[in-house]
Amino acid sequence: MSIIYGERIRLRAVEREDVKMFCAWVNDPEVTHHLTLCLPMSTVDEENWFDSLSRRDQAEKPLAMEVRDGDGWKMIGNCGVFGIDTVARLAELGIMIGEKGEWNKGYGTEAMTLLLRHCFETLNLNRVYLQVYAENARGKRAYEKAGFVEEGRLREAVYKRGKYDDVIVMSVLRSEWIARKKEK
Ligand SMILES: CC(C)(COP(=O)(O)OP(=O)(O)OC[C@H]1O[C@@H](n2cnc3c(N)ncnc32)[C@H](O)[C@@H]1OP(=O)(O)O)[C@@H](O)C(=O)NCCC(=O)NCCS
Repeated sequence: MSIIYGERIRLRAVEREDVKMFCAWVNDPEVTHHLTLCLPMSTVDEENWFDSLSRRDQAEKPLAMEVRDGDGWKMIGNCGVFGIDTVARLAELGIMIGEKGEWNKGYGTEAMTLLLRHCFETLNLNRVYLQVYAENARGKRAYEKAGFVEEGRLREAVYKRGKYDDVIVMSVLRSEWIARKKEK
């Protein structure tokens, strides 16, 4: 799979050198506030995770998100496709922008839009979904902008910081993706 280019970001394969940065991000409580991750992670944990990637299906390997930085590129997070069901032709998306200064600049929306294009036009999927904590208003808004619609709510499905939160399931169908493309 080659690098996926958007207007302002690109998605490339994750390299071993990225692990140090990932480790810093997953240990930042603000970054993981709306993520399942809640325990401290060591560099060894992250390296083991990286080593396990070699056994993953190519289409389910995480991607590093980069934005332009002068003449080069700067990594700001990661995202990816997982849980591909080749019969129902569906998959789930995930994303984490670890560089907090890069939040609210539209990069999350653009990354999800790129991943949707990748899922429908490269992987030939029919349904792409994600799960977002109800209190993650930024995430929910970014996904809506990318075309996701709320399809249901898993009540009190997560427990973090001493309380339960609902998990919202959002999705885009291939037919909706095509209709949206025609509108533009
Ligand atoms: C969630 C995340 C992917 C969103 O990406 P992003 O680049 O920050 O989001 P975008 O800039 O594309 O869009 C954010 C939108 O939410 C809005 N927003 C931000 N904070 C908000 C809040 N508290 N309430 C309502 N809307 C909010 C922004 O104004 C923007 O909408 P607009 O363009 O209509 O003004 C990113 O912030 C992130 O990775 N956060 C940490 C990890 C995480 O939460 N991952 C997702 C788990 S499901």
